[in-house]
Amino acid sequence: MQEQERPVLPIFIVFVALYLVSQWLRAETHKKMTDTISIAYLKCLQWRGGWWWSAVPKWSTKSRRRLQISSVLEAVAELVQLDYMIGRPIRIDPYHVAVVRTTLTRNIGIRFSDILDEISTAFSEVIPAGEGEWTSVPVIEAAVKIICSSSNRLFVGLPLCRDPDYRRLTEEYASHVFEGAHIINVFPPLLRPLVGRYLTKVPLTLKHIKLHIGPIIQERLAMDERYGADWPDKPNDYLSWLLDEAQGHQRTVHDLATRLLAANFASIHTTANAFTQALYDLACHPEYVEPLREEVESIVGSKGWSKESVANMRMVDSFIKESQRMAASAVLMNRKVLRDFTFSNGVVVPAGTHLAVAVRSMHFDEALYENPDTFDGFRFMSMGQEGGDTSKHSIAALGLDYVVFGNGRHACPGRFFAVSEIKVMLAYVLISYDVKFPDQRLRPENIWFHGICSPDRMAEVMFRKRAT
Ligand code: HEM
Repeated sequence: MQEQERPVLPIFIVFVALYLVSQWLRAETHKKMTDTISIAYLKCLQWRGGWWWSAVPKWSTKSRRRLQISSVLEAVAELVQLDYMIGRPIRIDPYHVAVVRTTLTRNIGIRFSDILDEISTAFSEVIPAGEGEWTSVPVIEAAVKIICSSSNRLFVGLPLCRDPDYRRLTEEYASHVFEGAHIINVFPPLLRPLVGRYLTKVPLTLKHIKLHIGPIIQERLAMDERYGADWPDKPNDYLSWLLDEAQGHQRTVHDLATRLLAANFASIHTTANAFTQALYDLACHPEYVEPLREEVESIVGSKGWSKESVANMRMVDSFIKESQRMAASAVLMNRKVLRDFTFSNGVVVPAGTHLAVAVRSMHFDEALYENPDTFDGFRFMSMGQEGGDTSKHSIAALGLDYVVFGNGRHACPGRFFAVSEIKVMLAYVLISYDVKFPDQRLRPENIWFHGICSPDRMAEVMFRKRAT
C-alpha cells in the first residue's frame, strides 16, 4: 500500500499561526502589564505568561540584598536563550564582563581620540548634508551604524570596524538573537538545541561573522603563542584585553568570537536607542539647543575634546538622563530566583520565579520626581546643584531611584563607555548641525513590545550642516 502523504505543510502553517497568535497575546499582556505596574506600583504583582513574573514594587537596599539569592545570568539565559543564540561559554564563565568593567572602562580616555574619529567619520557617512541644506535622516538606522563603527573601533579596531559586511552582520545579529529566542521559547527544552540550530537565522549569521573575525583572532593567538602576552604593535582593543585574560580552552576562535559578539549584542542597540531618544527630545524641544550648544562650545573651545571634557558636560549629561528617565521600559533588572524566599510584606517568591524592578513606575513616581510627566532637560543638573554633588546625579551614577543601567553587582559594566559615546554624539550634533522634525511634526510615539520601550524605528529628523 502506498504510504499516506503526511500533511507537513498544513501542520507547519497551523503551528506558525499558533505561534504568531501566542506572540500577539504575549505582547498585549505585556502592554497591560506595563499599565498595571504603573497603577499598582505598590502592590506586588504576579502573573503567568510563559514565565512567572513579579515586579519588585519598591526597590530598596534591603530587597537588593535579598535578590542576591537570585541570578541575572539564569534570567537572561532564558530570556534570550543564551546557550543557543550567543554561546554557552558566556554563561559558564562570564569573565568578559569583568574585562568590560575594568580594562575597557580604563581605556576610554586612552582610546578617546579613536572613538571621536570613528564617530565623526561615521556621521559624515550617514548624514551627507551639505552646508546650509536640510537633509532628512532615518535616525535609528543612522545611530546603529555610527555606534556599530565606534564600538567596534574599540572592540576590534580598524579596518574591520568600517567593513560594510561585518557592520551589517553585527547590526543584524541582535535582532536575530531576539527573534530566535522567541522561536526557541515556544518549544520544549529537549528540542531547543535543534530549533536554535535549524529554525533560527543565528547560526548562519555567526558563521559569516566568523569569516571576518576568525582570521584576526587566529593571527592574535599566533602572535601570543610566539611572543607571549606583550608583542610589538599589539592592538590596544577589547579583543586583546580578552586574550590577556583567556585561559586554556578559552583561547579559541569560537570562544573569543562569542565574547566579542556578546559585547556587540549588549552595546549596539541599547546605545543607539538611547541616542535616538535624546535626539528626538532635542528636535522637539528646540529651547534646549542654545544652552547645550554653549556648554559644548565653551568646553571644547577651551579644553579640546577628551574624556574629561565630555565628563564636564553636565547639561548634556542631564538632558540625556532625563530623556532616558522618560523612555524607561516597564521593568528592568531581570533575575531568576534560585531559592524560595519571602519578602518583608509577606509575598512568597518560589524558586524559579522571574523578578524584575518596575523601573517605569519608579521614574514616573511623583514622590521621587517633581512633575514626572514633564520633560525637564536640566532636572538632574538642578538636583546635583541642590545636593552639592553633581557627579551623584550624573547618568552613569547608580542609584535606587534611577536604574536605567541596573544596580548592584550586575549593573551595566559598559555604562561609562555608552555614556561617553552618547554624549560625544549629541555634542557633535549640537556643534555640527541644526536639527528639526520634518513639517513641524510632534515627537514620534515610542514603540512598546514585551514591556520594552523603544524609539520609533521609522521617524526621520532633518539635519542642516552649520557654517564652520
Ligand atoms: C545606553 C546603553 C546601555 C544601556 C541602557 C544598558 C543597560 C544595561 C542593563 C539595564 C543591564 C542589566 C543590569 C542589571 O540587571 O542589574 C546591562 C547589563 C550589561 N551590559 Fe549594558 N547597557 C548599555 C550599554 C552597554 C555597553 C556599551 C556594553 C559593553 C561595552 C554593555 C555591556 C553589558 C554587559 C556585559 C552586561 C551584563 C552584566 C552582568 O551580567 O553582570 N552595556 N546593561
